[in-house]
Amino acid sequence: MKERLQQSISAETPEMVPVLSKEEIQKKIVSLARQISADYQNDRLLLIAVLKGAFIFLSDLVRQLTIPVEIDFIQLSSYGQSDSSCGDIRFCSDISSDIKGKNIIVVEDIIDTGLTITKLVAHLKSLGPKNVRVCVLIDKYERREIAFKADYICHTVKNGFLVGYGLDYAENYRNLPAIYDLKS
Ligand code: IMP
Ligand code: MG
Repeated sequence: MKERLQQSISAETPEMVPVLSKEEIQKKIVSLARQISADYQNDRLLLIAVLKGAFIFLSDLVRQLTIPVEIDFIQLSSYGQSDSSCGDIRFCSDISSDIKGKNIIVVEDIIDTGLTITKLVAHLKSLGPKNVRVCVLIDKYERREIAFKADYICHTVKNGFLVGYGLDYAENYRNLPAIYDLKS
């Protein structure tokens, strides 16, 4: 039923252009996980996923890691019905662990203007971790307002509004197993 619904979404909605298939996403995640596992082989690591968009990416990524990790979550306010960031980012729910002295990787769904991730990294750094790196599913660079380079990037696009695999438009499409560009 769910499969049929998902097929009909892609078939009957011509404005959804495929960007990454399930298989392509998994391939890229395997290679990212290999890189992270090698980089933190002799270190403790805490992954902090940004809700809600990164929930699927995190769950696939952690299952490919070959090192022990701790996991936490942080939730930031979203665009609401709009499709662009206003720079006024609020923390809806903060992390529950003490990150002092720890190696952190923030797991984020997408970096667009760069405002959200810049503010989040500054917030985490103020809590005294050993270091903070960023792993992002989609690096979308055309609208960047603050220079920001993620340490681990699953896929890069120039522009578009992407949905699926955790990414939403007004809370819809997060459950799609692949990533699409939603044409308006
Ligand atoms: P930034 O502050 O402009 O970098 O926006 C980052 C946040 O906006 C991301 O964490 C997403 O939640 C959301 N966002 C930006 N672009 C897209 C997109 O193409 N699809 C879905 N969400 C997006
Ligand atoms: Mg987000």
